[in-house]
Amino acid sequence: MDYSERLGRFVKFLKASQRIAVLSGAGMSTESGIPDFRSSSGLYKTVTSEEVFDIGCFRRSPEKFYDVIAPLYVSMLEAKPNSGHKALSELELDCGKDVIVATQNIDGLHQKAGSKVVHELHGGMLSLTCQSCGGQVPASAVDADLRSGKVVRHRPTCNGVLKPDIVFFGEMLPEGAFSASISAMKRADLVLVLGTSLAVYPAASLPGLRRGGTPLVIVNKTETNQDDNADLVFHESLGEVLPQALKQLKSGL
Ligand code: OAD
Repeated sequence: MDYSERLGRFVKFLKASQRIAVLSGAGMSTESGIPDFRSSSGLYKTVTSEEVFDIGCFRRSPEKFYDVIAPLYVSMLEAKPNSGHKALSELELDCGKDVIVATQNIDGLHQKAGSKVVHELHGGMLSLTCQSCGGQVPASAVDADLRSGKVVRHRPTCNGVLKPDIVFFGEMLPEGAFSASISAMKRADLVLVLGTSLAVYPAASLPGLRRGGTPLVIVNKTETNQDDNADLVFHESLGEVLPQALKQLKSGL
């Protein structure tokens, strides 16, 4: 099926749906200048996830994590929502759809674009927790330290190592965000998978929870291992597909 036919089918799915559940990943934000993990230009081409995002490694050598996270943190602070994020928020704000976003991203860009219900499956970068006393501090309070690439400590109190409130490999997903995402997938009448390689579980299991007959649309530049289960697959970029689908949807409303 060529691109315009697939786009037409996507618009029909959008038109026929009211409760849309979205699973998004790092590909959603590459067009905002934040690298993803597993693409040819992704973060894992230079570092391995075990080195950086594993909780055991973090406890043993937090300096490795902070060295890698500093440029990522800065790019996240400076990033603005792209046309893909905006199109998704307009689906609810302008087209009246109920959209629930379950995101693996920690950059807060869905929220900045105006999406109202966003469940952060892998936590977020906006706060940090002290590994010694359990105290929580906002990222803004340690902004200069986070930018420096040095280990961020809980000062002037206990001097414990602060860990951003993101989910590391070896940690549980935030219970509330995960259970709300499960309910959204089960209730949805359309499921969209956007910019994720679907390589990391349990997030990748969410689309499989949709009810029988609920269409699944995947928009991801490269193949995923769930493409065969999808009703429609786009290997084009999100910044192209989502705004174009939204434009057609709006013109036919
Ligand atoms: P990945 O890097 O694994 O996948 C991102 C996908 O987005 C890739 O398959 C790209 O082809 C695709 N992509 C990139 N830019 C795109 C664009 N403009 N339009 C469409 N597709 C695009 O990132 P995630 O699947 O999000 O977890 O990774 C999942 C988790 O692995 C992350 O949350 C992180 C990581 O380890 C933790 O840190 C716990």
